[in-house]
Amino acid sequence: MTLNALITGATSGLGLALIKQLMINDDIHLILPVRDLQRGQQLKDSFTGKDRQRISLIEMDLSSLESVRIAADSLDSPIDIVMLNAGVQSSEKTIYTQDHLEQTFAVNHLAHFVLLRKIEHLITPEAIIGWVGSGTHHPELAKAFGFPGAHYIGPERLSKGEFEGNANTSQASRDAYGTSKGLNILMARHLARQPSSRTYFSFDPGLMPGTGLAREGSPALKLAWKYVLPIVAKFMKGTSTPTRSAAMLSRILLKSKKVETGDYLEYTGSLLNPFMPENEESYAIKICDFSDYFVVA
Ligand SMILES: NC(=O)c1ccc[n+]([C@@H]2O[C@H](COP(=O)([O-])OP(=O)(O)OC[C@H]3O[C@@H](n4cnc5c(N)ncnc54)[C@H](OP(=O)(O)O)[C@@H]3O)[C@@H](O)[C@H]2O)c1
Repeated sequence: MTLNALITGATSGLGLALIKQLMINDDIHLILPVRDLQRGQQLKDSFTGKDRQRISLIEMDLSSLESVRIAADSLDSPIDIVMLNAGVQSSEKTIYTQDHLEQTFAVNHLAHFVLLRKIEHLITPEAIIGWVGSGTHHPELAKAFGFPGAHYIGPERLSKGEFEGNANTSQASRDAYGTSKGLNILMARHLARQPSSRTYFSFDPGLMPGTGLAREGSPALKLAWKYVLPIVAKFMKGTSTPTRSAAMLSRILLKSKKVETGDYLEYTGSLLNPFMPENEESYAIKICDFSDYFVVA
């Protein structure tokens, strides 16, 4: 039986490692939204013969909600697996998308929400749907790297990147990143509370230095991220590699590792306790109400 798996952010890092793992299963057909079709084609061509035919590409730039809506409307196959993996982290200043939304919130969270809403009717009843979270959403876990944890402020302020006292600074971009990851975890938990036979979960891949995530950082940061941290990380707790984290993620998506709907898991497969707002459900509804506006705009 063919399983259609839609994976965002498959051109690099964790997403690339994940699709390599998933392709080992002959039943998988990949639907890959990519922002650059030429790079997507190169990725597809890196597979041979019948494997290549098991990959469908679709142009989708998550920093443009119009692009997300158009791409989603072009899909028509049932979807059994959804992994909302793509992500960005700007490290110097606040960046805005063409929709005038703070980029981290827009790409990491809102665009994925819009995508999911638009393909809702295609997602099968027993489907599994995952978001990527991160320890940076937790006030205790990434302090040493300058991440104070998610700020569960109002969605309008989130969409403008208005973090208390930190407007347009590198701190504001870290605030935005940790918050976007908290929102992803929050949304998986919120949807898991709705009546459904689908499984919603979120996943912390651990620190995976060397991926493309530092692409918007300073030259010094990029150098450290690509060449220094991968070596240092071998001796640090809580660090992983794209291959290692993708192996666990692939097991979860193919249901050989059992998860309960709403779970937040790390790359080892252990359950994690996320940091959520006190009024979690009403806050989640507020985020959904705000985001729903962008589904049809
Ligand atoms: N690396 C870590 O230490 C770490 C830790 C915790 C969580 N995470 C999360 O893990 C996920 C994967 O990150 P990674 O480290 O593998 O980073 P990565 O190598 O930079 O991969 C990010 C992927 O997202 C895609 N993407 C970014 N912006 C996009 C846009 N506007 N439209 C469409 N696709 C877009 C990228 O596409 P292009 O190739 O076209 O740029 C790429 O395929 C992210 O959600 C990240 O936040 C990473």
